[in-house]
Amino acid sequence: MKIAILPGDGIGPEIVAEAVRVLNVLGEQFEMETAPVGGAGYEAHGHPLPDATLQLAKDADAILFGAVGDWKYDKLERALRPEQAILGLRKTLGLFANFRPAILYPELAGASTLKPEVVSGLDILIIRELTGDIYFGHPRGVRTAPDGAFKGEREGFDTMRYAETEIRRIAHVAFQAALKRDKRLTSVDKANVLETGQFWRDIVTDVHREYPAVALDHMYVDNAAMQLVRAPKKFDVLVTGNMFGDILSDAAAMLTGSIGMLPSASLDANNKGLYEPSHGSAPDIAGKGIANPLATILSAAMMLRFSLNMPEQADRIDAAVKSVLAQGLRTADIHEAGTTLVGTQAMGDAVVKALN
Ligand code: IPM
Ligand code: MG
Repeated sequence: MKIAILPGDGIGPEIVAEAVRVLNVLGEQFEMETAPVGGAGYEAHGHPLPDATLQLAKDADAILFGAVGDWKYDKLERALRPEQAILGLRKTLGLFANFRPAILYPELAGASTLKPEVVSGLDILIIRELTGDIYFGHPRGVRTAPDGAFKGEREGFDTMRYAETEIRRIAHVAFQAALKRDKRLTSVDKANVLETGQFWRDIVTDVHREYPAVALDHMYVDNAAMQLVRAPKKFDVLVTGNMFGDILSDAAAMLTGSIGMLPSASLDANNKGLYEPSHGSAPDIAGKGIANPLATILSAAMMLRFSLNMPEQADRIDAAVKSVLAQGLRTADIHEAGTTLVGTQAMGDAVVKALN
């Protein structure tokens, strides 16, 4: 099994290093190869997604990704900014199905900004379409407005668009995921305002006919945002487009106390995938050894489960993470009175020890 290791920028290298240590003590033979991506790719080869990095990602069975982005690249033209690396990998590799689970570990109930009774036992799954929508739609750009009330003025514009195939395939992924859980799916759109939203709703409703065992409901995105903070446990699986999924998944992540705990998987049609923590590169704390490596370690567990067909090893990692939390070890992002504050490496050490 070949794993491409793409640490990226900011805290990426520190947290990925801990996940790699965890993979190395499982007793399996993985071939791992590391390549620069994001700002690191730009520094090494003048491009956020260097050809050799993309080739490695294509050749590998799975990709473990850290994070990209740093304020110091904000002035570069868009095509050279670190974010283009992750967008390019998603698009080029066809990683259209993004799984973002939001699970609240009982030990961390106090770390959430919401009342414990609202979030305790939370276990929801956001499935975000990842290669379409306004993220990739054309035309886009800055131009002189050709018409409208501000004709002749400069304007920025993007295009929200979804093809039927794109909606159908993510709907199938979502219904299948719901079948393996509580069999409830909420599809999120903006059908009351947007044509793409009504089209999305119509296609998801049509796909539902193949999954009579799943209860489907539809929700407007503004209401979904409200319900996520009001009564998040009412949800089981949510499916939504790229833009709404970006926003809702950050909100859902924070319900659990820290985005530093949440893994994600981005899969293609054959379950080949890229695995990354849901959080970003956090340049403000990079190099300090205080970042939480658990989201990346849990992402490695998702990789074993979805792409490498090693569910028992994935379960071992999940159990080891639970065990270090039960021991009271906490990085700064989830630290509370009465628990033990540890750094990135010490957290990795504890997971490795729990595995042995
Ligand atoms: C995410 C991130 C990315 C996105 C950025 C870094 C391009 O916010 O994975 O949610 O917008 O998809
Ligand atoms: Mg995001």
